[in-house]
Amino acid sequence: MSKLSSIESDDNILLDHKTGDDAAIYKINSQISLVLTLDFFAPIVDDGYTYGEIAAANSLSDVYAVGGKPVVALNIAAFPRNLPKEIISSILEGGFSKAKEANTSIVGGHTIDDNEPKYGLAVTGFVKTGKQITNALAKTGDLLLLTKPIGTGIITTALKNHKNFLKQNDLNIAIDSMKKLNNLACDVMNLYNIKSATDITGFGLLGHLDQMMKSSNKSAIIWNNKIPVFSGSKDLLKKDIYPAGTIRNLEYLEKYIDFPSNLSPLEKKLLADPQTSGGMLMAVPEKTLNKVTDFLENNDSKKIEVIGEVTEQKNYSISIHKS
Ligand code: CO
Ligand code: CO
Repeated sequence: MSKLSSIESDDNILLDHKTGDDAAIYKINSQISLVLTLDFFAPIVDDGYTYGEIAAANSLSDVYAVGGKPVVALNIAAFPRNLPKEIISSILEGGFSKAKEANTSIVGGHTIDDNEPKYGLAVTGFVKTGKQITNALAKTGDLLLLTKPIGTGIITTALKNHKNFLKQNDLNIAIDSMKKLNNLACDVMNLYNIKSATDITGFGLLGHLDQMMKSSNKSAIIWNNKIPVFSGSKDLLKKDIYPAGTIRNLEYLEKYIDFPSNLSPLEKKLLADPQTSGGMLMAVPEKTLNKVTDFLENNDSKKIEVIGEVTEQKNYSISIHKS
């Protein structure tokens, strides 16, 4: 550890794991800094190509979350020895196509043998020095926007274990969302000088918001009825279908969150549902709110609702309001 901390005192490291951000930033000069991220996971859908697209979109998202522009990436993969070559190719091709959409070249990588497949990218990007977005700069009065619905953990768990309960259309909508790059969110944040954001992944909406509030020394109020949710996820929850990570998230979060008495256990689980390639959660100053929502709605043709607001730090990291 002592060796690690002496390296970490390098003045060129502008952002690292200490604020709970998923990307590191390394200053090259006063103009430009490097953004470094890595993410990979086991398949969550049946089709190899789609899995590759989702894994790549998910990995690229951590660059977008700090306002960066991804440039080059390396594959990181593990495949069973007996996995047919065509499947491996389709996973890699899915990742390649998504990287291409992000104007990012995959320039190499490494694969090992493993019984369970895993795939993702180590992405390198650029950001203007000093302009990086972090989860640690939310300010009192900022309004919280979320660019994708939540519930992918529930839907992909149903796909894995309870296919008969899952509607094809609900699955398709969730898959399209997971495949979608968070580049628009990044563009709008850079355009309107948004300072604080995080993408929603394994710790769920509550987990990532909690981290953002702790890093910013603030608290948040969220309005349960305003939070966008994937169609079908509530019905699946009613059948007790959800991933194991939900309970781990809730156990950790319990003491930091003020749950109202009228919020059902089902609604709690939804808010803590681990996401794959989830949306961008942004803290937006009120004066730029309309410009940001207009940009997102015009370019993405879907309604963006304010889901909550940032307040001074209180006893609870997050208070949930339900009308
Ligand atoms: Co990540
Ligand atoms: Co992230």
